Amino acid sequence: MHLPLKVHRIREENSTFRTYIFKHDLRAKPGQFAMVWLPGVDEVPMSVGWQDKDEMWIGISKRGDCTTAIFDQIKIGDRLGVRGPFGKPFELKEGYKKIILVGGGYGTPPLLFLAKEAREKGMEVVVILGARSPEHVLYEKEFAGLGCEVVNSANHNGKKGHAIEIFAERMEDGKVDCVYTCGPEKMMVKVAEIAQKNGVDSQLSLERHMKCGFGICGQCCIDGTGARVCKDGPVFSGKQALSLEEFGHYTRTGSGKRIALE
Ligand code: FES
Repeated sequence: MHLPLKVHRIREENSTFRTYIFKHDLRAKPGQFAMVWLPGVDEVPMSVGWQDKDEMWIGISKRGDCTTAIFDQIKIGDRLGVRGPFGKPFELKEGYKKIILVGGGYGTPPLLFLAKEAREKGMEVVVILGARSPEHVLYEKEFAGLGCEVVNSANHNGKKGHAIEIFAERMEDGKVDCVYTCGPEKMMVKVAEIAQKNGVDSQLSLERHMKCGFGICGQCCIDGTGARVCKDGPVFSGKQALSLEEFGHYTRTGSGKRIALE
């Protein structure tokens, strides 16, 4: 059932990305998602980017019919239908001392929520942010405000893949207990491979087309495994993800048509 949640604030992060802030505790954990419904248009899965007892943040990029309609129609004080939280969250194991987060562009929001929890548990958190241009980097100030060490790779020289180079160097710096990543799948493949090569666990969040959001419709099944991204994910270990034939290669539209990932 949808909760008709009133939009309390809207942050314009850039021309194609906004953070919608609700005064509501959905009791989400980092890595979980909510289904966001604009009546008469559609419903889309969105990661929870922040949750405390007062506020929930959902970051929305303008890239399809539903999200474009949300950008065009929803103002402060309007309501969106929200149901959730759904899915498996990131796991922060007791005893972790240092973790690295690698965020790619608009995939970054769930990592902000994860950073908050990790810092509350006293962990050292290094955040490497990549994006195709500096204005597409999200939440740099918020990560820094949590006490994370933030490396904005888009500020270095903007060259493609620079976040991965920085990440690979940082993995050699010393003991890292786990690596977490969310962003373009080709980037996440590289992060998971580098972590594996260094003998470090990794976790990542997959995005697939969803309908029910809780494991009954089959819309989000991964080829050859039966794994449902909405229920068995969206968070998978890097090892699990690297064993999936479609990881980093293709996804599917709502009608099931395969589309290659760039
Ligand atoms: S969206 Fe229905 S099974 Fe995943």
